[in-house]
Amino acid sequence: MNIESLKLKKISALWIIVILVLFIASIVLGILMRLNQGKVIEQSPLTFYTNMTTHGLTMIGIWFAAGMVAVNYLLQRYVKTSYGVNLFAFILTVIGVVMLWITTYAGKFSTGWTFLYPLPFRDLGSESWSTPLFLISLTVLGVGWLVWSVSLMAQILKKYTLSQAFAWQHFKSNASVETPPFILITTVTLIGVIASLIAAVIVIILYFAEYFSHGDFVNDALLMKNLIYFFGHTIANEMLYLGLAVIYEIFGEVSDRPKWKMTWYISLAWNCAMIFILTAFFHHLYMDFVQPQALQIVGQLASYLASIPSAAVTVFSIVAAVYGVKVRWSIVNLLFFLGVAGWVIGGLGAVIDATISNNIMLHNTLWVPAHFHTYNAMGNVLFSLGFFYWFSTQYVDKLVLSKLTKYTLALLIIGGIGFLMAFYVAGANSIPRRYSTYPVELTSGPYLAKVGALFASIYLIAILIFFYNIAKRCFVILSASSR
Ligand code: HEM
Repeated sequence: MNIESLKLKKISALWIIVILVLFIASIVLGILMRLNQGKVIEQSPLTFYTNMTTHGLTMIGIWFAAGMVAVNYLLQRYVKTSYGVNLFAFILTVIGVVMLWITTYAGKFSTGWTFLYPLPFRDLGSESWSTPLFLISLTVLGVGWLVWSVSLMAQILKKYTLSQAFAWQHFKSNASVETPPFILITTVTLIGVIASLIAAVIVIILYFAEYFSHGDFVNDALLMKNLIYFFGHTIANEMLYLGLAVIYEIFGEVSDRPKWKMTWYISLAWNCAMIFILTAFFHHLYMDFVQPQALQIVGQLASYLASIPSAAVTVFSIVAAVYGVKVRWSIVNLLFFLGVAGWVIGGLGAVIDATISNNIMLHNTLWVPAHFHTYNAMGNVLFSLGFFYWFSTQYVDKLVLSKLTKYTLALLIIGGIGFLMAFYVAGANSIPRRYSTYPVELTSGPYLAKVGALFASIYLIAILIFFYNIAKRCFVILSASSR
């Protein structure tokens, strides 16, 4: 085996093990939050909010990284990628996550994952050093991921011109150069990722400027919120598209079906999606009435339009690939298929919430975590688990759909749906999000939280079984030699 590709396999295997360990730890934090809201355990509000902050940031970080690991791995089919940059991103991610957990657990930093201005400067019961350390940990993570994204983008642009990477030549018939859908979706997504990370860097600089000015410089709260949501909303969405790029690339081959080829409508859909995804974040500011009204309208329109092209084309492609033909189902394509369903259902929940007239009712209720957990816990996570399975089995084992795998999948689905339904029903009943304990008037809140905790525990059991199966094969890859 070529030493370069063995190094890439090993670093990918290492990423996968670390991501899954952090995932399990973060699910436990999620269950503790639901148990606290359900009054089964009693934690102080500060402990609840440190758990919430750690859970949110770690989950976003690891599933973004998981998408990047998969895309980096598959990109080697088309372009050469840098092992050094991949390793650099891995080291900075580990350092950043360790610093983050020190900030939240030793420093009691507890602003929530959106660290909205001016919360990091308010006395929420945290240590005074936790704010600068939190900003440094974000800097470390941001630098690692920005360098990684720029490096992958640069490698794509060494082989394809920008217009070819955007597949514009496919608008005409008989395109001279064929752009694989994987390259187009990766390009569109990396551009969004780079833009969101640059916004994060600006936010961090502005926070530091205020911190070091000791009151001489005060930030504009609305500008900070726009920048934070441009970063947060965009990265949380783009990480899903990294997963979709992977599906376009390997769904066909794992299902014994032809590989998806570029067409004019795939090209058009993803070019449009890029613009809409970058402008949809305005829907987070509906309740900020000083925000210019035109931007609120852009927010609503972009929220609708962002979901249509990429979702419609992806669903059409995946249904067309499996409808009425013999498909070799395995755990990999089943996870992809279910993940696309979760992504679409969560997307519909998002569009309902992003409609201004509904948002008046649903804003900051548990409907919000309901929809984003749907496309994450039952969407993006399944995309990445599918990739992890495919990656770990392709060198070590055959892909078989054993009875145990089927039962595990059933546990994942039952646990996932039950956990999400508890959020949706609570949201529809106006139970607020981000409450450590619910006021006595909200009688259904604690009950639904208990139901959520129970089903989340079933989901966790499935993840533990997946972890065992995937990690043991990743350890075999880690111990492989080049001969
Ligand atoms: C079964 C697995 C999971 C459980 C039990 C869980 C549980 C929770 C709970 C209870 C909350 C707080 C809800 C509230 O506002 O009251 C929360 C928030 C959150 N979760 Fe999860 N979650 C899970 C999976 C995920 C996944 C896969 C992601 C991936 C991105 C994720 C990302 C987040 C984020 C970003 C927040 C918001 C944190 C904040 O408001 O600062 N969670 N989760």
